[in-house]
Amino acid sequence: MSEPRAKVTPPALRQRKGTEPLVAITAYDAIMAHYADAAGVDIILVGDSVGNTALGLESTVPVTLDMMVHHTAAVARTKPRALVVADVPFAEAHFDFDHVLRSCQRLLQEAGADAVKIEGGESLAPMIARLVAAGVPVWGHTGLMPQQVKQLGRYKRFGLNVKETDQLVADAVALTEAGCFALLLEMVKPAAARAVVAAVDIPVVGIGAGPDCDGQILVFTDALGLTPGYVPGFVEQFANAGATLREGLEKYSRAVRGKTFPRAD
Ligand code: KIV
Repeated sequence: MSEPRAKVTPPALRQRKGTEPLVAITAYDAIMAHYADAAGVDIILVGDSVGNTALGLESTVPVTLDMMVHHTAAVARTKPRALVVADVPFAEAHFDFDHVLRSCQRLLQEAGADAVKIEGGESLAPMIARLVAAGVPVWGHTGLMPQQVKQLGRYKRFGLNVKETDQLVADAVALTEAGCFALLLEMVKPAAARAVVAAVDIPVVGIGAGPDCDGQILVFTDALGLTPGYVPGFVEQFANAGATLREGLEKYSRAVRGKTFPRAD
């Protein structure tokens, strides 16, 4: 019988830089976490994308810490082998250190996350260094930061010119020096993503950032064909779970209406 595979840890992920690509996916509840872990992914991100994918919100901005604790706990209760990372939601990381530490404490202690993800660049690096020193594993997130959407006016690509690419590299270096175990790079031109990957010795997991990152992440519902509305152009759909679910529900409806379910004893 083969040995059970060891729990994924931040140091183990760090060591994967330049070796096998990291596989990450979002999940927001125990069912999603079960399937993600059974498929052997490395990281399950309880993303604040729970807001616009599962809670009917327009963006990630209205997602609160209580919501993140609730959904992270559902994922963590399945005790996956994958690393469970909880998003620190809108604005939380911009309060004073005690507040931010307490938010991370809730995600790790109360919800059971293994690590947190924080959107932000070099200006947040000193705060992140203090969190890391306090024992909080942090996955940095740069490039497009969807929590900034009200400021940006729309979701856009980054790394479109030398200035933006230099800023992405500076952010990545500062976050690495602060002690992040990995970075997430969202919606970045592939050439700029390559510059970021080359500049740091921690894995860079991309989403809409081209093929040369150290790993990839997708939103669960996008990757599996469950998103009813708009799906970003960079997404590849690896299953048509939406069609399968609809077919099953139509069969169920026909069986109830046709009185073929439940069967008579
Ligand atoms: O919240 C989220 O789903 C994200 C994506 C970029 C993966 O951060």
